[in-house]
Amino acid sequence: MCGITACVAEGDVVDELLTGLANLEYRGYDSSGIAVPRGEADVSVLKRSGEIDALREAVAETVPAGSIGIGHTRWSTHGPPTDENAHPHTDCTGTVSVVHNGIIENHETLREELRQRGHEFTSDTDTEVIPHLIEEGLDDGRSTDEAFRRAVDRLEGSFAVVTLCGGEGSLYATRRGSPLVLGLDDDRQFLASDVPSFLEYTDRVVHLEDGDVVEVGPAGYRVTDTDGDRLPREPTSVDWQPEDAERDGYEHYMLKEINEQPQALDRTVRGRIEDDGGVSLSSFPPGSFDGVSDVQFVACGTSYHAALYAREHLVESGVRAHAFRAGEYATTPTPVTEDTLVVAVTQSGETADTLQSIRHARDEGARTLAVTNVVGSTAARTCDDALFIRAGPEIGVAATKTFSSQVTALSLLGERLVEDLTGSPSEDRAERAAAFRRLPSDLTRVLEDSTVADLADRYRDRDAYFFIGRGVGHPVALEGALKFKEITYEHAEGFGSAELKHGPLALVTEETPVVAVFDGRHEEKALANVEEVRARGAPVIAIAGEGSRKVRELADEFLPVPDTHPDALGVLANVQLQLVSYHVADLLGRSIDKPRNLAKSVTVE
Ligand code: F6R
Repeated sequence: MCGITACVAEGDVVDELLTGLANLEYRGYDSSGIAVPRGEADVSVLKRSGEIDALREAVAETVPAGSIGIGHTRWSTHGPPTDENAHPHTDCTGTVSVVHNGIIENHETLREELRQRGHEFTSDTDTEVIPHLIEEGLDDGRSTDEAFRRAVDRLEGSFAVVTLCGGEGSLYATRRGSPLVLGLDDDRQFLASDVPSFLEYTDRVVHLEDGDVVEVGPAGYRVTDTDGDRLPREPTSVDWQPEDAERDGYEHYMLKEINEQPQALDRTVRGRIEDDGGVSLSSFPPGSFDGVSDVQFVACGTSYHAALYAREHLVESGVRAHAFRAGEYATTPTPVTEDTLVVAVTQSGETADTLQSIRHARDEGARTLAVTNVVGSTAARTCDDALFIRAGPEIGVAATKTFSSQVTALSLLGERLVEDLTGSPSEDRAERAAAFRRLPSDLTRVLEDSTVADLADRYRDRDAYFFIGRGVGHPVALEGALKFKEITYEHAEGFGSAELKHGPLALVTEETPVVAVFDGRHEEKALANVEEVRARGAPVIAIAGEGSRKVRELADEFLPVPDTHPDALGVLANVQLQLVSYHVADLLGRSIDKPRNLAKSVTVE
């Protein structure tokens, strides 16, 4: 939710901190701040509510400097987005500063205790207890390292914490349930919630584990467990290029990410489809899932729609499969056995509800598998196995390329599951495989030929928008509506086409466009549903294979995609919907990359 960045070097680090914060703004952005040393023993803290430019202005006025520092962008969970509640937070003496991501569940108890011992608080945040706990350790004569460990020992919840103490040449940090990575350059070291924070400086990364305590100085780092025993944590290289994480000339990250889907999908499938249509997943050779009786997907938001999409193929091929919203699964878990495979679909690998669901499933004895974009993410490390979707970093809050890559990676995994669980391949295995192999070039055609920009202008100011579909058209309709409401702030709802006449039809008028997704199957029934809304005067925007003559004739607006296997066609149709949302939001002047009230990574339940 929030973003942590920190740097220690030979020279001044304020530029690195501001760059790191700007790169992490997608994690949360209602306020930001930095802390650097002041004098022999103090720290100087600058923090501002609002976007990062407010902090830049404050830095330009006061010109803080230092060769060690911490920074934070906040997405509020405790207390409103004010200057006071922005991080870093400090102790009573102003010598201990802390940035934190996650939630301290026992903060009220700790705050009360600390108050009784004379500590004064200046914010409403749960974070503020941490510097005061460290202060007590230092007052007792402990070293910073020991005072930090003692303080962390008292915390309950999930968190990543970095502290800077006045007079110290090292940063101290830990993680438990929230992400924290170390970036290693020759003469400067970084700590951050996520790799893009420091990607222009270094691609050498250490993924810290839950419970790790790390001390980072200008020349290196030392990782220990909670008892202070040294742990081996070797760096690895990430293959993301800095320019991958930049806008590349596009007005918005979202548009850039929509347009780079052909390359992302090429990476997703590369080396994973054999000539005869069989899949070749290095971690999952044939027989990997022998003994699995049923599959449960758990996911949130867009990833849940990808899971629903994947479920269609499995169910049609005779595999027992269900898709659950992780927020509900975490509250009311569905029974599992040791033969159940629970698949967490999560772009970030850090979504709290999804992590909670897989931890529960794992504890109940199920086998767990993460389908994620982030190597080293908590989901990848918590599950028994991981399949990476290889979409590259996604900065826009609205998920676009990761949905397409999730669906594609899940389709490959689905084929392995069908073969292992039913003993024979999907009926149309070769055709499906060929369609997914062709997907990057089909998608390039959609992007080149799309006429969505004109259409968006005609439909930009209606009362509400409905999205309907059958088969994989249903999850695509749900995803289309989610994207539309998320970035246009207009009312949009997605339904299975058959569901419309059981209630939502009452809302359909000539002022409510209905976007109908046709996946190439179930066409007669889907056309009948479209007739139902046309009879109420609603303009129909249809998305279907270019050869669908009947759909083209019936619809008021037709957005064609190349004719292909229905399971690949849904991905292409969804790209048209991404463009519809993007262009309407752009015409309405919305904050496309950072929609109000939302964050890229939802690390609280
Ligand atoms: C919508 C969106 C969210 C995420 C959801 C799950 O555009 O991005 O709905 O899909 O928060 O996130 P991950 O996939 O990181 O678990």
